[in-house]
Amino acid sequence: MAQARAHPNIALVKYWGKAPGSDNKPASPSISLTIDELETVTRVSAAKKETIRLNGKLVQDKKISNFLRLFDEAFGTGPLNIESSNNFPTGSGLASSASGFAALVTALNETFELGLDLPERSIWARRGSGSAARSMCSGIATLEEVSGDWQAREISAPSRWPLSVVVAITTEDRKSVSSSVGMERSRSTSPFYKAWIANATKEFDTCKAAIKNKDFQQLGMITESSCLQMHAVMMSSYPALIYWNEVTVNCIRAVREMRSQGLDVFFSIDAGPQIKAICLPEGSSKVESLLRNVKGVKRTINCGLGLGAHTVTND
Ligand code: PMV
Repeated sequence: MAQARAHPNIALVKYWGKAPGSDNKPASPSISLTIDELETVTRVSAAKKETIRLNGKLVQDKKISNFLRLFDEAFGTGPLNIESSNNFPTGSGLASSASGFAALVTALNETFELGLDLPERSIWARRGSGSAARSMCSGIATLEEVSGDWQAREISAPSRWPLSVVVAITTEDRKSVSSSVGMERSRSTSPFYKAWIANATKEFDTCKAAIKNKDFQQLGMITESSCLQMHAVMMSSYPALIYWNEVTVNCIRAVREMRSQGLDVFFSIDAGPQIKAICLPEGSSKVESLLRNVKGVKRTINCGLGLGAHTVTND
């Protein structure tokens, strides 16, 4: 039996679209920040029959079961008992599947003493959920094709360039269309999809350069642009994928207003209605108090950069 902890990550250059084939490879490279404060803790043990408990409730989860079947085929791990808990809303655009699969792979690697290295663990996490590969890494990570496979790499440790992420929760409801279903819908129906994928590598390179130079303005420009392009693809899919609510829009306006007042801050939004405001640590309390006062915001969480998925000692 083993236990592991992983944090969600927020993409700066987004991934929205899969490569053809069955190995859950992305169609374009992405970059993200692993954040602290939000976390998934997952415990794995051998069992007679597979059971999955999510936040204390017994669930049937096809995505997890399919992943466990693949893992069993590769390593002969047999039926398992999985217990996983999140300290934040699940399935509502806060990357719970990223932290979930990153924690699961880390706990599996430990339970069965598989000795998988970071690239291998990230490839396995990616098979569960594309963005989960990046939660294997601390600080800022890429998910890119390296020697023929898509794996995550840490490109900036939390201490090299500390950044803050203020998460504004606008609703705790689950999203109605999952990322996998949404991505396939966008690929097959959005007239903007091809251009989005074609543009991603350029954005990826620009973002990497901004991180290398610690250029906050450039990072903000690329991040907001990638986020809004992804949502344009989502909204131009059929049926349209509109993950925002009115509070999301209020928060976008608030972040833009903060910027016009001289605060260094930019926003990002994933497949859900929550806002993530990325700022410098010295400005994060101000950003948090301004976001908390935006009409409709339920609560805020002020995060720093977090560690990659790691094992934790059993209680
Ligand atoms: O990893 P998935 O399948 O949950 O997809 C993640 C998609 C986004 O969060 C919207 C973007 C990203 O790159 O994380």
